[in-house]
Amino acid sequence: MCGIIGYIGKKAAAPTIYGGLLRLEYRGYDSAGIAVSDGRKVRQVKLAGRVNLLEGRLSALCGNAGIGHTRWATHGAPDDVNAHPHRAGKITIVHNGIIENYAELKREALALGETFLSETDSEVIACLINRYYRGKILPALKEACGRLRGSYAILAICEGEDGIAVAKNKSPVVIGCGADGTYVSSDIPALAGLCGEVCIAEDGDYAFLTAEGFEIYDGALNRVSRPMQKNRALPEDVDKGGYPHFMLKEIYRSPRAAEDTVRAFGGVKQKFCKYAEGTGRVILAGCGTAYNSCLAARRYFESFARVPCEVETAGEYRYKNPVITPSTLVIAVSQSGETADTVEAAALARGRGAKVIAVTNAPFSALTRIAGLTVPVAAGFEVCVAATKSYTGQLAALYLMAKALGGGDPSPLEEAPSKIKAALDDMDICAVADMCVHSRGVYFLGRDLDYATALEASLKLKEVSYIQCEGYAAGELKHGALALIDGEKTAVTIISDPALAGKCENAVEQVISRGGKVAVITTLAQVASAFGGRAEVVLLPQCDKYVAPLVTAAAVQVLAYRCAVLLGRNPDMPRNLAKSVTVE
Ligand code: M6R
Repeated sequence: MCGIIGYIGKKAAAPTIYGGLLRLEYRGYDSAGIAVSDGRKVRQVKLAGRVNLLEGRLSALCGNAGIGHTRWATHGAPDDVNAHPHRAGKITIVHNGIIENYAELKREALALGETFLSETDSEVIACLINRYYRGKILPALKEACGRLRGSYAILAICEGEDGIAVAKNKSPVVIGCGADGTYVSSDIPALAGLCGEVCIAEDGDYAFLTAEGFEIYDGALNRVSRPMQKNRALPEDVDKGGYPHFMLKEIYRSPRAAEDTVRAFGGVKQKFCKYAEGTGRVILAGCGTAYNSCLAARRYFESFARVPCEVETAGEYRYKNPVITPSTLVIAVSQSGETADTVEAAALARGRGAKVIAVTNAPFSALTRIAGLTVPVAAGFEVCVAATKSYTGQLAALYLMAKALGGGDPSPLEEAPSKIKAALDDMDICAVADMCVHSRGVYFLGRDLDYATALEASLKLKEVSYIQCEGYAAGELKHGALALIDGEKTAVTIISDPALAGKCENAVEQVISRGGKVAVITTLAQVASAFGGRAEVVLLPQCDKYVAPLVTAAAVQVLAYRCAVLLGRNPDMPRNLAKSVTVE
């Protein structure tokens, strides 16, 4: 949700910042901009559209200190004027977050005769810093932040003053030193190969960067120290590795995500069992794909641990008055650990006395600071906006947690990596993709665990291909959606549970008899032969029914990917979306 990066050091700032923006582009790609100081003057370029449009303009920016921004628009259209950086007087800023009281601040500024160029909330920040500037940018930034309500990671530079000033509240800030200068960014992987260690700033922190290093300050501008973490992100994490898109690369990393997550769970299992002791009720919360992994996990907790389990979208949970008892365990699931709704839901639950566990792919994220315990998803850095390998990792972590809570044998999960790999190597889903892209609507059907996969399939397909689609519990079809079925619609049914296969086959027959186009994705040979010749069938490796969601997920992810490519979409950067939704 907007990426920011700053650099000050020995190198030319513009190409350094440009390289960082390319790595941060998954956070937003509505517009991009860079401002560079040569010690006396600050010059900037900014344009609507993708970061690479800036490449030809970098020569206009000379100097060794600068800031950059890639935008996911919240206030104001995604055009050149609303692109960051924003400037007021000698002050230039980039901002990630939302200023909730910007309208009131703007009215006040206009009454004082100050002027604005853009429709953004962010421009008021530049305006306030400029108003409070008395020769040093950091105190002016602090005074400005005292007026702001909302979330922000701000980088500010001032004409004639060396250094980059930083402020953080609820939006991530990572700072590190490299061989040739000092860096600040929204995310660790942007600093892969540049900084061996990074410092994760905390809410309320300020920082000041010079070519020699950085200092962190608290809200009263007293110096504070924050621990340095090893930067585990590698340059290859932010490289397509020979694949045409990150999405495909990341789907093919799913077996590894499952394997590494199983290994990582070994390191926290004891702590988890101790923390979860006495759990009488589990609440699983997440957004988007993480929510869908929670839906599958509900079955895990109910079946393996026999505890009552509820699933909530985090955005709804945070605004209800939840019933929390001393035995309530809230499990907040988030790839990024930054999603505002999930972080706030976890904070609410913790504040009301629940035990809270973070299940996340981001070990130093905001969510981990709220939770009493973190269970890692070891999927590795995920670039594509559409979550794929992290979903697999979430399912693996949640499976193991449910098994540990119930005291059951987790060994069936050990087959997951090889089954996913076999599915990816052997399946041919092109005919189903062709069917979907030539349809006026796609319905994904499934029962029980396959219903969670159907919802995830639908989210993935709509997200990257923009095809109209829905996920339905197969039994629900006849209660309404069947009215939509005709020769221009496709139903893709997912069947992996032998006990429910017959019931799911009924749904497929109902679609066939109404003239709909039909595909079946199954791990069951008998289902494949029942529909051979009457439907497009994708047969996946047979596996344990609780492991099947990890295998069927790979199939529906590839299906979504193929559809996007057939339609000429860029699956890595779906329109209107960003990877980390750090605003409401
Ligand atoms: O980082 P998170 O797991 O908290 O993100 C939650 C959703 O925003 C995310 O899963 C989103 O739905 C993905 N783009 C789905 O592919």
